[in-house]
Formats: sequence, structure tokens, C-alpha cells
Amino acid sequence: SWTPDNFVDMTVAELKEKLGNDRVVLGLSGGVDSTVAAVLLNKAIGDNLYCIFVNNGLLRKNEFQNVLDQYEGMGLNVKGVDSSARFLDALAGVEDPELKRKAIGRVFIEVFDDEAHEINDVKWLGQGTIYPDVIESISVNGPSATIKSHHNVGGLPDFMKLKVVEPLKMLFKDEVRRVGASMGIDPELLGRHPFPGPGLAIRILGDITAEKVRILQEVDAIFINGLKDWGLYDKVWQAGAMLLPVNSVGVMGDERTYEKCVALRAVESTDGMTADWVNLPYEFLQKTSNDIINKVKGVNRVVYDISSKPPATIEWE
Ligand code: XMP
Repeated sequence: SWTPDNFVDMTVAELKEKLGNDRVVLGLSGGVDSTVAAVLLNKAIGDNLYCIFVNNGLLRKNEFQNVLDQYEGMGLNVKGVDSSARFLDALAGVEDPELKRKAIGRVFIEVFDDEAHEINDVKWLGQGTIYPDVIESISVNGPSATIKSHHNVGGLPDFMKLKVVEPLKMLFKDEVRRVGASMGIDPELLGRHPFPGPGLAIRILGDITAEKVRILQEVDAIFINGLKDWGLYDKVWQAGAMLLPVNSVGVMGDERTYEKCVALRAVESTDGMTADWVNLPYEFLQKTSNDIINKVKGVNRVVYDISSKPPATIEWE
């Protein structure tokens, strides 16, 4: 019968056999799938696995450094590449959600291709593809999704001509988590909410600037840390904040303000295909709203999204 330990033993043996002394390059996203795939490959081939973790400047607050530290602590051979400026440049003035996704996908591929070229004689592309990705060919998380949805744009980048190794291809999400746990991956990492590849870009409605990213990172951090402090994080499938392209009037002391509005979103779901908003306690929403408005300069109004999917989507873009 299937157990995570058996799966790890068998897969590591197979990967050793298949890869021998070959080098593999893999894009880490901070998410569950790419991390578990990397740890499995690392068990099989050690430092012949070259991981690349790209900062697109659209991650959560402090996420790049925190996750990079965590990866290094896990003994992965990982290179962090901070390309924030390059992504923000490519996004300047772009308002359309699909064009944002395209711009991010294109820059990601450029950065990844440049980095893959730095590795001598690499033969394989490792990916954290899981079974639902195979059947639907859509992925909730990470670079692999970006690669897949954009690989038909123009000619193939060189790294895409590599042979592909996907050790999680036959697993469902809960099995991936169990495999990760059996290899000793931090439960906090394994329990992370899904986070879209284009990151905060699709939660900033309209055009993106460094200042808007900073505001949304602050708001998101207050919301997510609040969910953790109140023991609500694990009861929610996904949560995040949207920065709306509206200013509204407020008052602060004796002053009239005219500032940004944010929407908080927390949903229950099993696979992201359908979702319902979570009935978060009013006391929590009250405290979170006060914290956001008091602490984040530039925001004077907070609303809570009570739309289910369908007909709404989880993200606003
Ligand atoms: P929607 O907004 O379509 O989101 O209800 C469903 C799930 O997919 C995630 N999502 C994305 N993930 N690239 C990704 O890797 C994307 O472009 C993308 N768009 C949405 C979303 O966060 C949710 O988990």
C-alpha cells in the first residue's frame, strides 16, 4: 500500500538511476510543490540539483529573504536572484490582467534562461508538477505554471529544450504534503496557502508601482499575521488583500483624507475551482481593519469580499 516513506525510497532510487551524474535545474517558488520536488531530487542527486529562486518583486513582505534562508537551512543548492526592478520595469503602465501575466511570464523565462546558462552542462529541467496539473494542465502555484502557460509564445527558450523530470507527477496535493512531512520539511511551509505565480501584480488593480506594492505588502502582512495570531490561518484555504484603484474620502484627526481602499479576501475551497468566502469573526475583522488603517500610510478604508466563486473568482484580476 502507498505510504509516504515508501514513495520517497522508491522515487529516490528511481531518480538516482535515471539521472546518474547529470545536472538538473529547478525553479523554486516558495510553494509546497516545487519545494517537495526539490527536496526529493536533492536526496537523490545532492548538489547536482541547481535550484533558482527568483524574486519578481511581487512576493509577500520579506518573503524572498525568509524563504531563501529556509531553503539554505534545508541544505538545498539554491541561488536567489533578485530581479524585482526588471519585473517592475516590464509592468510599468500595464493595466490589463492578462498583459500583466504575459509580461511576468516573459521576464521570468528570460531570467530563468539566463541563470540556467550559468550552469555548465545541465541536462534536465526539474518541475513540481502534480497530478491535477497534468490532467488540467493548469497549476495554482509557481514558476512551473508560468512556464507552461507561456511556452507557446515565440521560440522555446534553451532551458525548455532540456529533458523534464517531474517526481510528483502522480501525486495529489495532500499526498505531496505527506511526502514533504515524511522528509522533515517544516509543517509551516507545507501548510502555506496557495499564492499565484504573478503574485501581488494581480492583486493591485490597474497599473503597478513600487509604492503600491509596498502598501499592499504591509496590508497583506497585517492580515496574514493576524490570521495566524488568531488561529484562523489553517482554517482558511487562501487569503490575501487587493489594492483597489479607488480613492475615497476619510477623516484622520481634524484632517480630511483622500486615500486608497483595500479589500480583504479569505476563501474556503478544496481545489480553487469553486470557493466560498469565509465567515471570519467580526472581532477579528474589526481589529484587522483598525490595524491596517492606523499602520499603513495611504490606506483609509478596508472592505471584506463576500463573493463566492462562481460567479466571482478568488483573485480580482
Ligand atoms: P481564480 O482567481 O481563478 O484563482 O479563482 C484560482 C486559484 O488560482 C490562483 N491563480 C493563479 N496561479 N498563476 C498562478 O500560478 C496565475 O496567473 C493565477 N491566477 C490565479 C489563485 O491564487 C487561486 O488559488
